[in-house]
Amino acid sequence: MFKSIKIILVTSLWIGAGAAFAADTLEPVLKDRGRHFQTEGTDIPVEKDGIHDPENPSVEVLQPPSEALAGFPRDSAGIVDWVQAIKQGYIEPRADLEGLSSKQTLDLDIIFTDTGAMPNVRFPHLSHTLWLDCSNCHPAIFVEKKGANPIAMNDIFQGKYCGVCHGKVAFPPTLNCTRCHSVPKDTGK
Ligand code: HEC
Ligand code: HEC
Ligand code: HEC
Repeated sequence: MFKSIKIILVTSLWIGAGAAFAADTLEPVLKDRGRHFQTEGTDIPVEKDGIHDPENPSVEVLQPPSEALAGFPRDSAGIVDWVQAIKQGYIEPRADLEGLSSKQTLDLDIIFTDTGAMPNVRFPHLSHTLWLDCSNCHPAIFVEKKGANPIAMNDIFQGKYCGVCHGKVAFPPTLNCTRCHSVPKDTGK
């Protein structure tokens, strides 16, 4: 019981803090991946992670992420797989602070094909809407129309489009390319 309350605190602080990260802070974050992505083997105390306020007394009651996230599912880059964490019941994020409403999900994959020699990219609305509201992306980050956004990989590395979140609060674009580039070119999609 107490444990799950702490995890809610950690994840909500995490999302809030991520928004404050500018693209120029991406490099140190990635260099020091344990801070944000809690890769296996890293153990950075919350008061030293550069995310939480060390003066806030709650840093003492927060579970160390290495302990809280110890058994969590990981992707092939060793980063916590938060989509699996929901699907396997490790966490149950609320749709709102009081837990009164339910999430609006959308099962719609968008396949991006302008990927050069890399496999195509699948953007799954379903996984994203387990975490986010439509208004987190539309219209500020993406115009709500297939093909209407001129996304290039470099923009993502610079913190635009997918990079508004990936590299800050979601798995980084510099690791595990195939989590996004997951659709072989020869499927005809
Ligand atoms: C968060 C998802 C995501 C990750 C992770 C990711 N990509 Fe991409 N990538 C995209 C999207 C979206 C596009 C744009 C495709 C389009 O416009 O049709 C793209 C486009 C590209 C392109 C096409 C040329 C260009 O510059 O746009 C290349 C090459 C590419 N990515 C390489 C990579 C490599 C290498 C990695 C790992 C280091 C990687 N990508 C990781 C989402 C991702
Ligand atoms: C994490 C970001 C994100 C969230 C959250 C999100 N979308 Fe999208 N949406 C996208 C992207 C990316 C595209 C594709 C844009 C492109 O192709 O350039 C898209 C495209 C669309 C399209 C156009 C489909 C088409 O075939 O033209 C619709 C409609 C849409 N979204 C509705 C929604 C609704 C409704 C929600 C909430 C239930 C939602 N989206 C949540 C990122 C998001
Ligand atoms: C508003 C924030 C946001 C934006 C913008 C965003 N994502 Fe994500 N994405 C997330 C979150 C949060 C997760 C779940 C946390 C994690 O896996 O790190 C996620 C997970 C994913 C996953 C894993 C899905 C699964 O089922 O395992 C893929 C693939 C992905 N994103 C691709 C993309 C691509 C491609 C784009 C751009 C077209 C994009 N995302 C834009 C927040 C975002």
